[in-house]
Amino acid sequence: MKERSTVTAGQLTAAGPPASGSAPGRVLVVAGTRPEAVKLAGVVRALGDRAVLAHTGQHYDDAMWESVRREVGLPEPQVRIEVGGSHRGVQIGTATSALTQYLLDHPMAAVVVQGDTNSTLAGALAANATGTLLVHVEAGLRSDDPTMPEESNRVLVDRIADLCCAPSERNAARLRAEGVPDRRIAVTGNTLFDALHDLLPDPARRAAELDRYGVRPDGFVLATVHRMANVEHPGRLAGLLEGLALLARQAPVLFPVHPRTLAAARDAGLQPLLDRLHILAPLSPVEFLALEAAAGLVVSDSGGVQEEACFLRRPLVVLRDSTERPELLEGWCELLGDREPCDVLLAAWRGAAAWRADLASRALPYAEGGASERIAAELDARLQAVAIA
Ligand code: UD1
Repeated sequence: MKERSTVTAGQLTAAGPPASGSAPGRVLVVAGTRPEAVKLAGVVRALGDRAVLAHTGQHYDDAMWESVRREVGLPEPQVRIEVGGSHRGVQIGTATSALTQYLLDHPMAAVVVQGDTNSTLAGALAANATGTLLVHVEAGLRSDDPTMPEESNRVLVDRIADLCCAPSERNAARLRAEGVPDRRIAVTGNTLFDALHDLLPDPARRAAELDRYGVRPDGFVLATVHRMANVEHPGRLAGLLEGLALLARQAPVLFPVHPRTLAAARDAGLQPLLDRLHILAPLSPVEFLALEAAAGLVVSDSGGVQEEACFLRRPLVVLRDSTERPELLEGWCELLGDREPCDVLLAAWRGAAAWRADLASRALPYAEGGASERIAAELDARLQAVAIA
């Protein structure tokens, strides 16, 4: 049984000695949010006993972290930090400080971070500060929208990562164009597809999930909204919820709602619009995928949902002005941009059957499977090179 440490507000309070001391080859895997749990589970499995999991606490509700962690098969974190609910700068600062202290006390061969969250950046800065080899999973994505905190996070992490694991050649080309040398880039594929392979429930379970909400395949809309740009501007949030409420006259709209979105909508007096939707608590990955696989139309501002909807061949309206996954603009999804949500959502619903028929026969723009093992292998190759040098 591995020992566990608890780190709070930049201060390390070890619950015992470090996990197996500071054995060479150990890898600190940093995760803070629900999508990181999903996309790192395969990497942790591929690393086996060498993986030491740190949870920054960015997502802290049971439905947002603990139940997700269990469902995707991540072990209990051996390092815990509590940054949840604080300002972005405080989240990054607190987690960077705590992870730095942990790495000083328990040197690791490498640090693995994923994606573009505040936790991703904190893990990267701590690795950089302690001279630990840094691996960035899902490198090279760009929305070119500097107003998104995620864009700043991912650009900064790619600048300092020793190994940028790009999901696709396109992402690798973007890194090269920004001056990242080839030796720091590996095209590994997308770990989300490993997760989808593991988590997508069988047809019976999917049918049971639809029964639970009284909806039929292709006959409902699945919506999520959580981005700062949508949630923190009451006018924008009202417009989106009006669009969804209008759609609800055509078909049931299932809306598993992020805690921040629910609080913001209520604060803005938008409860009457919420009342016209099927409001659900945040769903587990398996529950969400069961619904997503059968949704007539998906409406979301999430990054991961863009990839899932593509994999599941479901039409998607992205509630944003830009995407860091431009390959999906070739017919897989549609950006809302600054258009009127009511018009765009209604038109998308009317065209959804034809859109689904088109998606059914397309070649997927992503390679499938095996990304987690490739990432572990690339990491090992880097560690060997360091050992020989
Ligand atoms: C974060 C990521 C985003 C990712 C998303 C997945 C950043 C900048 N953004 O956004 O890229 O797509 O996770 O969900 O890192 N809250 C709770 N309970 C929780 C978690 C959050 O109530 O378990 C509330 C808190 O009030 C918090 C707010 O939601 O302040 C926002 O959470 P935060 O983690 O800062 O950002 P997300 O919107 O979840």
